[in-house]
Amino acid sequence: MKLISEKIKGFRNIESAEFFPSTSVTVICGENGQGKTNLLESIFLLTGAKSFRHVKDKELPDKNGSGQASLDSVFFAEGRRQEIRVTIGNKGRTASLNRGSEKKASELAGKFCCVVFSPEHLELVKGTPAERRRFIDTALCQISPGYLSDLREYTRLLAQKNALLKDARNISAAYDMLDVYDERLAGTASSIVTYRRSFSSELEILAGEAYSSVSGDREVFSMGYLSTTGDDDDPFEIHRMITASRGDDLRMGYSTVGPHRDDLELRINGDPARVYGSQGQQRTAVLALKLAEAGIFRNKLGEEPVLLLDDVLSELDGSRQEFLLRRLGGSQAIITCCDPNFIERETDADVWKMHGGILTKEE
Ligand SMILES: Nc1ncnc2c1ncn2[C@@H]1O[C@H](COP(=O)(O)OP(=O)(O)O)[C@@H](O)[C@H]1O
Ligand SMILES: [Mg+2]
Repeated sequence: MKLISEKIKGFRNIESAEFFPSTSVTVICGENGQGKTNLLESIFLLTGAKSFRHVKDKELPDKNGSGQASLDSVFFAEGRRQEIRVTIGNKGRTASLNRGSEKKASELAGKFCCVVFSPEHLELVKGTPAERRRFIDTALCQISPGYLSDLREYTRLLAQKNALLKDARNISAAYDMLDVYDERLAGTASSIVTYRRSFSSELEILAGEAYSSVSGDREVFSMGYLSTTGDDDDPFEIHRMITASRGDDLRMGYSTVGPHRDDLELRINGDPARVYGSQGQQRTAVLALKLAEAGIFRNKLGEEPVLLLDDVLSELDGSRQEFLLRRLGGSQAIITCCDPNFIERETDADVWKMHGGILTKEE
């Protein structure tokens, strides 16, 4: 899939802009704080997902403007031109596809897909399990609408169960209610864990290949899904694990097992990358995971996702830069950078400049 154009109004520091990326590589250059990442973020929002910067929707409209942001795009997917309009304002984040009725933006899932590469992704290896769960969740929400609804339902039930656990001692019917929650949580948890495990094994294959290519086969990447409810994803088994943790749950005042506590273990030559990986190995692992994410999208959708590379090239050494650029292949890539020398090397790319929220094409 390719983004053909995007018209941005009242988004972050971009009062008004029109962007026509190249079908291959487009470079957005500009100094820090000018709005380059904001532009990528606006493109990412066309997927219907929440911002990759993990901020609240209400922080997205221009704070000096009307409080309403609109993103109008034309893109090519499924063999035809399509349109997505996303608005963010007092009605939340809504979207319409091909001029249809206005719906919640999340209902766009699977229509337009992006993979973002950003320096913060190093947290995928170094950060807490929450970072890795967010990575899987963001990806699965884009490609599997069923996953998104399961995750919503799970989060809702979990919040209710946790509220109950907090003051269970004062509620005489608490145990009966906890039984009801645990049963319903187990069903949704089973579905979530099944999706995640299959995503994780696909990632392992694709990221393993990418990792070997970058490291020249000297190192082996592997990974696994670490479930707090054991290795069996059957709802009855998960239910058994959840009820077995009732004592802990009550003591802690929150739900101690389930997909909200699971993790991905990333390994290099069999050792956890978070603990033993060098900076270079960790960077390579992140790069490999992101390329694998793009590969999964490609396999699932039969289309290349749009790649958004935010300031990452400056973080990579020459050989990794070259590897990444070669891997972009036929995909549409939109790359931001501060370093103007980079552009001279990328002579084929279209170049745009971002300055103070104003986007212009360099001729
Ligand atoms: N909601 C908002 N309204 C107006 N300006 C914003 C908003 N959110 C962020 N900004 C501004 O956007 C700029 C940062 O843009 P960013 O895209 O992160 O820069 P960079 O070019 O370094 O990637 C800052 O000047 C910040 O004040
Ligand atoms: Mg930036």
